[in-house]
Amino acid sequence: MVDVLLGLQWGDEGKGKIVDFLAEQYDVIARFQGGPNAGHTLYINNEKVVLHTIPSGVFQGHCLNLIGNGVVIDPVTLSKEIDKILPLCPDLLKRLFVSQKAHLILPTHRALDAASESAKGTDKIGSTLKGIGPAYMDKTGRNGLRVGDILTPGFKEKYDKLKQKHKQLLRQYGGTPIEWEEWEQPFFEAVERMRFLQIVNAEYWLDNHLKNGKRVLAEGAQGSMLDIDFGTYPFVTSSNTIAAGVCSGLGIAPSRIGDVYGITKAYCTRVGSGPFPTELEDETGAALRAAGHEFGATTGRPRRCGWLDLVALRYAVMLSGVTKLIITKTDVLDNFTPLKAATGYTVHGVATKEMPFDLCDEHISPLYAIFDGWKTPVSSCSNYDELPQAFKEYCTFIEGYLETKISHISNGTGRNQLIVIS
Ligand code: GDP
Ligand code: IMO
Ligand code: MG
Repeated sequence: MVDVLLGLQWGDEGKGKIVDFLAEQYDVIARFQGGPNAGHTLYINNEKVVLHTIPSGVFQGHCLNLIGNGVVIDPVTLSKEIDKILPLCPDLLKRLFVSQKAHLILPTHRALDAASESAKGTDKIGSTLKGIGPAYMDKTGRNGLRVGDILTPGFKEKYDKLKQKHKQLLRQYGGTPIEWEEWEQPFFEAVERMRFLQIVNAEYWLDNHLKNGKRVLAEGAQGSMLDIDFGTYPFVTSSNTIAAGVCSGLGIAPSRIGDVYGITKAYCTRVGSGPFPTELEDETGAALRAAGHEFGATTGRPRRCGWLDLVALRYAVMLSGVTKLIITKTDVLDNFTPLKAATGYTVHGVATKEMPFDLCDEHISPLYAIFDGWKTPVSSCSNYDELPQAFKEYCTFIEGYLETKISHISNGTGRNQLIVIS
């Protein structure tokens, strides 16, 4: 079976840390969507490592790591990431596999991302500008280049054809001309390097591992509220971040999906534009940002902070069939009281527990449940019984509302700052 781990909010829930921990129990970790817009933070021997394209199982020496067909790969980012990790993980290249069907992000995709965002002006998505949207557009538009193409003699010709299309589009956007050579030289160097990676027919590769009894964990990027279909459209990313994305992003049949771990912070953050009903644009929000070091792992942008949104979480749990709930960054709330969590919205004066069609509607406001904070440090607690009563009450309420049991509670950045419940 393939277990899944994915974010239930707007990304940055702590997926990297938890995958790194859980990877001990798995033989293969596989990324199924997203690309270098992701930033997954791990602490390895107290050293901070941020992974963008490489799965977070690389630091468990026995784990194989697959970049699946649903991922979009920027060869330049991947190459830099490999260089950063190799000293910490000398056998990385033996344990890293790439699907031949994963699509490539070209330099022109990055330029198009930037041009599209600046043309949107105040309506901009707040994209990470890594070329994600344009690369997925070429995939669905049936123009894209795939990893397998770099092994064929016609690659350069296909590249040039697509580049010409992109240049035409860029001319329509206007803007200053780009010195393509400066962008293309590192791209082609990185593509050259990619040829020596283990490029595999990943659906069969995974199928063989599963038939041999190997345990596989699919690692999500972004979060459920950034899903292209079910997120806060249009302020979303361009892939399916929910569990359904595992089937198309790895070639896994639905009947082979096992447990689905859903991760949420004990509060909520969002980076980039778009609606966020429980956002705190006051000193409490600023205090959450400071306590949680809420700055983007990929772009360094300050993350917007607010209270937990149980309406959005319940929706995300439903969409992915979450069987195990993981709550992270609980220690960040140590000094906050009271705590709030949205248990409903009013939409044009009418109360609801369902996600409205358009969360951007100005006439939506959250209805809150209020809790006592625990006002005591929890980062040194190593089992559930040691946790303060107010903390347990907050968790019990969340479990009840979401009708899902909490399996892990994270109370610090370290791999082992994790309370395992089941
Ligand atoms: P990801 O994208 O879901 O992997 O999350 P990020 O790495 O972008 O952001 C999560 C941040 O929270 C990282 O800096 C982690 O080191 C940190 N983090 C994860 N779990 C905890 C926790 O339980 N407590 C605290 N204080 N920080 C945590
Ligand atoms: P991880 O995997 C948080 C956000 C961007 C922007 C929107 C679209 O680290 O949780 P894109 O670059 O995909 O066109 O941006 O999605 N976004 C993320 N926010 N965590 C991420 O990844 C994100 N990846 C994209 O900020 O609002
Ligand atoms: Mg992140």
